Order: sequence, then C-alpha cells, then structure tokens
Amino acid sequence: MILRDILRQARVLPVLEINNLDEAVPLARALAAGGLTVLEVTLRTDVAVEAIRWIAAEVPEVMVGAGTITRPSDFQRIRRAGARFAVSPGFTRELAEAAQSVEIPFLPGVMTPTEAMTASEQGFDTLKLFPAEPAGGVGLLKAINGPLPELAFCPTGGLRASNFRDYLALPNVLCVGGSWVAPAAEVAAANWTRITELARDAS
Ligand code: 3PG
Repeated sequence: MILRDILRQARVLPVLEINNLDEAVPLARALAAGGLTVLEVTLRTDVAVEAIRWIAAEVPEVMVGAGTITRPSDFQRIRRAGARFAVSPGFTRELAEAAQSVEIPFLPGVMTPTEAMTASEQGFDTLKLFPAEPAGGVGLLKAINGPLPELAFCPTGGLRASNFRDYLALPNVLCVGGSWVAPAAEVAAANWTRITELARDAS
C-alpha cells in the first residue's frame, strides 16, 4: 500500500509510546474497537520493536507502523518486526536512502518550506509536519498550500481533541497524528474502555 493510501485510511493516527509489552495488544485492540486501525508505535522505549511484532501478529485488523525513526538501521529491524510504514520527526538523506532500499512507505518530518522542498526533490511528497502546533499549525499549513499545493501533510505535535478537526479540514492534510487518543495515564491504568471512547470520538 502506498503511503498516501495508508494515511487517507487512517485520518487520525494514534502516536503510541508503549512502556510495557503487556499493554501493546490490548491497547491496539482498544483503539481498533473505537475505529482507529492505523497505529504508530514510537521507538522511544526498549520494548517498542517487540510491541510492533506483537501487534502485527495478534491484531490483524490493525496496520501498525513505527515512529521516531532516527537511524538508518531502524528500518531493517522495524520491517522484520512487521511494521508496514515508518515515520520520522525529521528528514536526512541517509534516512531517505535507507527507507528506499528497505522499500517501506516512509513519512519524514519537516517544519519549514525549505525542508519540505528538499524532501520533495528526493521523492517524498507526503510529509509529517512536526512539531505542528509550535511550528505554526493550521496557519502554516494554509500558507504552505499556496506555493506547494502538490505536497500533502500529516501534522503531529500538539494536536488534541479540541483542534484536530481544524487540521483535517485543510486540503493539504491527509491525516493527523497524536498521542491524545491514548493518554499515558489511561494506558498505565489499563483503562481500555476509556481509550476506545477517545478513539471513537476521534474517528
Ligand atoms: C510525535 O512523535 O509525533 C509527537 O510526539 C506526538 O505529539 P503529541 O504527544 O503532542 O501528540
């Protein structure tokens, strides 16, 4: 599946930080029960790659990807674990080449028009805007759509239940990402019912 189709299917992409492997499968099931079936597990914890493996194996109704990709070697290990796409907070030529050689759909992060144009020159026309709210949010995306209408974005960073719909209404936004649908406290408390409710509100 190509990246734009994955993001269009997602619309809202939960950004997950999984600290305890036992959380992975029930969390993915809770989000899927609320209608969110494309998930990003960030490589910010020791168990992240294993969590991707478990979700990919145990929750077939979900498409799981890996986030916080910062090293070229990350692509091989997340691909082997079953990740279907990869997300980075930034964009470097080394990451772009590694993604292309592993042949995994890759959503690199940018924050300025120059970064977006550099990524586009290297074949990436679908980009994460990160960190979206501090960078200028909805106003920035509207301004970028004038000169760069061929680019599509998944803004992430600072999005909440109160503002994500404003982003989704923009013509250059395919999906939005964020952690608000799986708050750390609810995950730690195994409050899966609450997480399904939050997912349902977002989807
Ligand atoms: C990310 O990695 O995309 C962000 O850390 C998510 O940002 P949020 O926690 O503000 O949603």
